[in-house]
Amino acid sequence: MKIAFFDTKPYDRAAFEREGGEKGVEFRFFETKLNADTADLARGCDAVCVFVNDEVNAAVIDRLRDAGIGLVALRSAGYNNVDLSHAFGRVHVAHVPAYSPYAVAEHTAALLLTSLRRIHKAYDRTRDFNFSLVGLTGTELHGKTVGIVGTGKIGRIFAGICRGFGMRIVAFDPYPAQESGIAYVSLDELFAVSDVISLHCPLTPETRHLVDAEAIGKMKRGVVLLNTSRGALVDAEALLDGIKARKIGAACLDVYEEEADVFFNDLSGHILDDDLLARLISMTNVIVTSHQGFLTEEALGRIAETTVSNVRSFFDSGCVSCDNELCYRCGKIEECKGGLRRARCF
Ligand code: NAI
Repeated sequence: MKIAFFDTKPYDRAAFEREGGEKGVEFRFFETKLNADTADLARGCDAVCVFVNDEVNAAVIDRLRDAGIGLVALRSAGYNNVDLSHAFGRVHVAHVPAYSPYAVAEHTAALLLTSLRRIHKAYDRTRDFNFSLVGLTGTELHGKTVGIVGTGKIGRIFAGICRGFGMRIVAFDPYPAQESGIAYVSLDELFAVSDVISLHCPLTPETRHLVDAEAIGKMKRGVVLLNTSRGALVDAEALLDGIKARKIGAACLDVYEEEADVFFNDLSGHILDDDLLARLISMTNVIVTSHQGFLTEEALGRIAETTVSNVRSFFDSGCVSCDNELCYRCGKIEECKGGLRRARCF
C-alpha cells in the first residue's frame, strides 16, 4: 500500500521508512503541505499522512476522495486542522493519541531552567571567550510555587519533575486527576499564588486566550509563563504588554498563535513579517522554540509505529475501520480512541 506523506521534514523520513519497510507500507514523501492545490499529488496512493499544519478542509477532502484516498492518517495527536464532519462518509481519519508525554514535559523543564539560570546567555558568551558573570544571576526553583493548568498526561509528568526540584504544586483542571496528590485550586487562585505558570491543557473555544490581559493582571509580579501546549492559549499582544510592564518576569514559548507559516521553516535569510513574534523574540527574558516539544528520537519512533499500525489496521480490516479512528458520526471521539470501535462507521 502506498501512502502520500505531506509536509515531510528530514527527521520524519528515517523513522517512517524503517517502520513502513517492516510492515509493507511504502511512503511517497512530499515536502509541500497538503492543501487544495497539492491534494492531487496523492493520486495513485491509498492514504495520506499529514501533520498539524496540513489543511484537511472540505475542498481537500473532496479532492482526496476523487483521487481514491480512503484514509487520512494524522501523525499528530491534535486534529483541529481536519473537518471531521465533512470527512464523514468520505474518508476515514485516524490520529496518534499519545506518543511521549515525557518529551513535552522534559522540554518544558529545559526551557524553565534555561531561562532562570540564563544558560542561553552563558552559552553565547563562553563561545565568544567572554567569561564574565555580570547579568547572569539566576533564580532558584526550590521552595517556589508552580501553577499547572491542565493535569493530563503531560501536566502530571511536569508536576513530578517540579516536585523533584522541591517546588510546591498547585493546579487547575475541570477534571482533577484522582489520587494524584496534587492540590487543586481555582484558576484565579493559581494565577495569584504561582511563581511559575505552565499551560498543559488543550486548545478549545473555552481555553482560547486563557492567558489574556485580565489574567496577567491577576498574576504575581515577575511570574514565569511557560506555554508548550498551543499558541492560542495565550493572547500574545497581552503577553508582550505584560513583559513591557515588567509584570511577566520571563516567558518560554514552544508554541505561538500565528505559528503556522513560520514554525518548522528556515526563515533565517528572510525578513520576518510577524512584528509581534519578532518583538517577543527580541526580549531578553523570552525564549522561543518552534514547536519542538515532541521532537525526540523516542517520540518520532512511536509516532511512526502508531501511524503505520493505524494504516495497516485500516487496510487489514478491508477499509472498514482502523485503530485510533476519530469517529465523526457519533462525535464521541474519546470513546472511539485506542481501536475500541471495530464496527463499520460508513
Ligand atoms: P491530555 O488530554 O492528557 O490532558 C489535557 C488536560 O487538560 C486534561 O486533564 C483536561 O481535563 C485538561 N483540560 C481541559 N480543559 C481544560 C481547561 N479549560 N482548563 C484546564 N485544564 C483543562 O493531553 P496531554 O497529552 O497532556 O497534552 C496537553 C497538550 O499538550 C495538548 O493539548 C497539546 O496542545 C500539547 N502538546 C504539545 C506538543 C508540543 O510539541 N509542544 C506535543 C503534544 C501535545
